[in-house]
Amino acid sequence: MNRREFIQNTAMAGSAILSSHTFAKENQAKNQGANQMKYIELNDGNKMPILGYGVYAIKPEEVQKCVEEAISVGYRSIDTAQAYFNEEGVGQAIKNSAVKREELFITTKLWISHVNETESLKAFDASMKKLGLDYLDLYLIHQPYNDLYGAWRTMSKLKKEGRIKSIGVSNFNSDRLVDFCINNEIKPAVNQIECHPFFQKIEEQKVLDEYGVAFESWAPFGEGRKDMFNNPVLKKIGEKYGKTVAQVILRWQIQRNIIVIPKTVKKERMIENFSVFDFELSNDDLTQIAALDDKNSLFFDHRDPEKVKWLNSFHRK
Ligand SMILES: NC(=O)c1ccc[n+]([C@@H]2O[C@H](COP(=O)([O-])OP(=O)(O)OC[C@H]3O[C@@H](n4cnc5c(N)ncnc54)[C@H](OP(=O)(O)O)[C@@H]3O)[C@@H](O)[C@H]2O)c1
Repeated sequence: MNRREFIQNTAMAGSAILSSHTFAKENQAKNQGANQMKYIELNDGNKMPILGYGVYAIKPEEVQKCVEEAISVGYRSIDTAQAYFNEEGVGQAIKNSAVKREELFITTKLWISHVNETESLKAFDASMKKLGLDYLDLYLIHQPYNDLYGAWRTMSKLKKEGRIKSIGVSNFNSDRLVDFCINNEIKPAVNQIECHPFFQKIEEQKVLDEYGVAFESWAPFGEGRKDMFNNPVLKKIGEKYGKTVAQVILRWQIQRNIIVIPKTVKKERMIENFSVFDFELSNDDLTQIAALDDKNSLFFDHRDPEKVKWLNSFHRK
């Protein structure tokens, strides 16, 4: 064998070993996830997987491949939004998937500029066209601004017509959520809010529980800010179980009955983030994680007038 053939052969053997290793891990994750996936029963009787896949900031040209990989790993719940500009790619992945439509749980969100009675219907129809769906599992008001009650009337009508299974909100602080629950016939099924070890939302969870609204977290890793993946407390807890910081964080939220939708563009990490149903954090672990809460957003406060102005300035057309 000459040097060139040797390099080619060893490279091929290496990639075969790597892909069979990845394949074994993927199968293991898929089996574990599928067998042990927990579902949250929403206040309208629908069931939502507690672990899903988020596609915020995934480029339109990349998202189809990512969602196809996520589905192949075992994810059945996908979280996108009108404002992520990648619904078409998500739709293409759903179309290509061999998984039955009723086994998937698809969420998209309505952006501020369309939050009123008439525009919300147009935005919904546009999202459904891009996603290539004839019904949606969960439609969320993305931000707590504009004509929330008008949009909610339209969303409630779409739910009654069966075009949406569940309707909910996102980034609602507790005061806004309580008002919304009291003054609407249909209560939000879900509130999707920032939650991670540095911003744990313990008080907010009590309010959500009181009103029967499911807690869904966004940025479960705080997008890695504040060196979250190297946090020594989380690392040490993970070492006891042979788990990574990411897995500890997801497990901690799942044990709190919080729906999680981690984002990654890497298949290895999709597998890692899906392998969280085979260990249980102890009370001592939970106490240590509770102590990490500094009750502050890693992003911004939705009540800050400058941020309200800033968010309202996007996608006005
Ligand atoms: N409603 C809202 O206003 C709102 C706001 C933000 C997000 N969301 C939703 O929530 C989802 C998740 O939040 P997010 O995307 O902001 O942040 P996130 O899930 O907290 O963090 C994503 C970051 O963590 C990295 N990562 C993922 N898994 C990892 C692992 N196992 N080890 C190391 N690094 C890992 C990713 O990098 P790589 O991709 O390079 O792996 C990416 O940089 C979004 O995709 C979106 O669907 C909603």
